[in-house]
Amino acid sequence: MFQKVTKSLAVLSMLSAFFVNCASAEPIVIKFSHVVAVDTPKGQSAEYFKKRADELTQGKVRVEVYPNSQLYKDKEEMEALQIGSVQMLAPSLAKFGPLGVKEFEVFDLPYIFEDYNALHKVTKGPVGKLLLDKLEPKGVKGLAYWDNGFKSFSANTPIKTPADLKGKKLRIQSSKVLEEEIRALYAIPQVMAFSEVYQALQTGVVDGTENPISNFYTQKMQEVQKYLTLTEHGYLGYAVIVNKKFWDGLPADIRGQLETAMADATEYANKIAKEKNDEDLESVRKSGKTQVTTLTADERAQFVKVLNPVHAKMADRIGKDIIDAVYKDTAK
Ligand code: LMR
Repeated sequence: MFQKVTKSLAVLSMLSAFFVNCASAEPIVIKFSHVVAVDTPKGQSAEYFKKRADELTQGKVRVEVYPNSQLYKDKEEMEALQIGSVQMLAPSLAKFGPLGVKEFEVFDLPYIFEDYNALHKVTKGPVGKLLLDKLEPKGVKGLAYWDNGFKSFSANTPIKTPADLKGKKLRIQSSKVLEEEIRALYAIPQVMAFSEVYQALQTGVVDGTENPISNFYTQKMQEVQKYLTLTEHGYLGYAVIVNKKFWDGLPADIRGQLETAMADATEYANKIAKEKNDEDLESVRKSGKTQVTTLTADERAQFVKVLNPVHAKMADRIGKDIIDAVYKDTAK
């Protein structure tokens, strides 16, 4: 009898310890930092990933999204990821040069992608994978590509031809290809963190910039740029990346659930990106503050002619094999 009671007590205490443990098990936290507004393709997709991660892991993972450079600015966020202060980022493909993976700058070449379809042939194909794999020696794992859109130039004076940008100081992201692009226009490139652009435009530190419309509108650039011309001369999208040690250290079942959440978020991102940019273009037009110009075929051809030599000039930096592989994947 005594033995029976002791046994039952032992089982009870084991069970209660188990339940206490379950109740107090802290979720795994993923801090996801980014630099744009919540109401952008990246901002919305980060929120979507958070929701799917919560559903699929049944609360075992909590994704904390920090938008608007709230936690870190461009350069700092890469360092924060590497040392593990945050676990997830989605930097623009133009921001991997400082990390030492300059091949990503192939995405910055002017007019290299005719549209989203051409771009997806690369991001969903072997070149896209090869580029993500290049991140691993840096302690970073690439999980996915998320779209934003095609960049257009803005300034406080009208832009119809490349000559209209001559001598202007133009803010760019930290990419040597973009520097060369601006020089090809006889303009002056100014690398600057995204969080500083509005003020730089407002105070005249720079005269203009290039953005997909969703970034232009959500940063309220219509308040400080009188002219926006739909040059759509280059692509801006993202690589979603994680700290590799953190990712590899996750329990396999949870990592699998997060991979599914990421696949869902990627599908969502690439569905809403164009819609969001189109909507925001309408909003810029409606604001009545910025005059939006569409180029004629002849004006566009002038931009193509001036900017195309950037491809050959940057071949050594990016790797001619990579540029050629992109040409091949996107050839019609
Ligand atoms: C920029 O700096 O212009 C963009 O990379 C911001 C972003 O993340 O879309």
